[in-house]
Amino acid sequence: METLEQKISALTDEINQYNEMGSAAAEQFRIKFLGSNGSVKKIFGLMKEVAPEEKREMGRLLNELKLLAEKKYNDLKEAEEASTSNGAEAGIDLSMPGTPLPFGTRHPISIIRNKIIDIFKRLGFAVAEGPEIEDDWHNFTALNLPEDHPARDMQDTFYVNADPAWMLRTHTSSVQVREMEKGELPIRIICPGRVYRNETISARAHCFFHQVEGLYIADNVSFADLKQTLYFFVKEMFGQSVEVRFRPSYFPFTEPSAEMDISCLICGGKGCNVCKQTGWVEILGCGMVHPNVLENCGIDSKKYSGFAFGMGIERITMLKYQVKDLRIFSENDVRFLNQFVSAV
Ligand code: PHE
Repeated sequence: METLEQKISALTDEINQYNEMGSAAAEQFRIKFLGSNGSVKKIFGLMKEVAPEEKREMGRLLNELKLLAEKKYNDLKEAEEASTSNGAEAGIDLSMPGTPLPFGTRHPISIIRNKIIDIFKRLGFAVAEGPEIEDDWHNFTALNLPEDHPARDMQDTFYVNADPAWMLRTHTSSVQVREMEKGELPIRIICPGRVYRNETISARAHCFFHQVEGLYIADNVSFADLKQTLYFFVKEMFGQSVEVRFRPSYFPFTEPSAEMDISCLICGGKGCNVCKQTGWVEILGCGMVHPNVLENCGIDSKKYSGFAFGMGIERITMLKYQVKDLRIFSENDVRFLNQFVSAV
């Protein structure tokens, strides 16, 4: 009796202290303890020598021992599987410190885009997006720019070779058309996105750039609403001291149309190279949505009116950060990109 109990306790210790490692540890353990010649199996054979009144208690102890051995075996197997799947098997030292990955920064265009979105969101505008490859209707015709209209020349367009019915959108006004066609009024949206124009690449122009356009359609929307909305935007974006002026302009999709200038941030309005000595820089186009556009999109122009505006994010970013050449935005030079740290 004594000896069997001692043997069980010695074997229990042995199992608990088993700390072989490596790929075959579990199998070795199984052979040593649980196999047909293993020590746990063998010790069970001693049961027949136990006095009948002790059999119950010894049976319980032996069962505990068996469960312990089986659990240990499963643990070893699991550890082995985990280590082969995470590379220890391939000789990789998992305790080595990792290679540090430096934090990136947001692209300045993204920072300013997010800022613009944030300002208009506070006025209740929602963000709408649409495809960059557009059909003629959404990019031009619905916007009161029928085929052969000379104003199409204002935006030199990339057409898709395989099928010139498709083009790269020249502005995100196409998204506004898509939203109006949904027929859910009122509409109060801004449309950020990338646009494409067949322009010669220079310090001030690129064949692709980014816009945020806005559209508000409801009962009785007036030019005064447009002005107040844009005043608010400019003050939030550039600060309270910036001055704003509107100049009459022409866009086929708005009537009346205007362009908006702000006082030059570089020289404060005195005149410099950036503002070409005028003291003003243009930042956006805007106007009251043309009734033809509303009707093209299935909106009753007698009942509803609206305003629209569109700005280039590159232009705003250049003014805000005093970047003189917009080509640098797409050169992926980290020495430039790392200068813009923002939580936005
Ligand atoms: N779609 C015009 C452009 O890309 C900008 C604009 C939008 C002008 C809305 C007026 C109203 O040049």
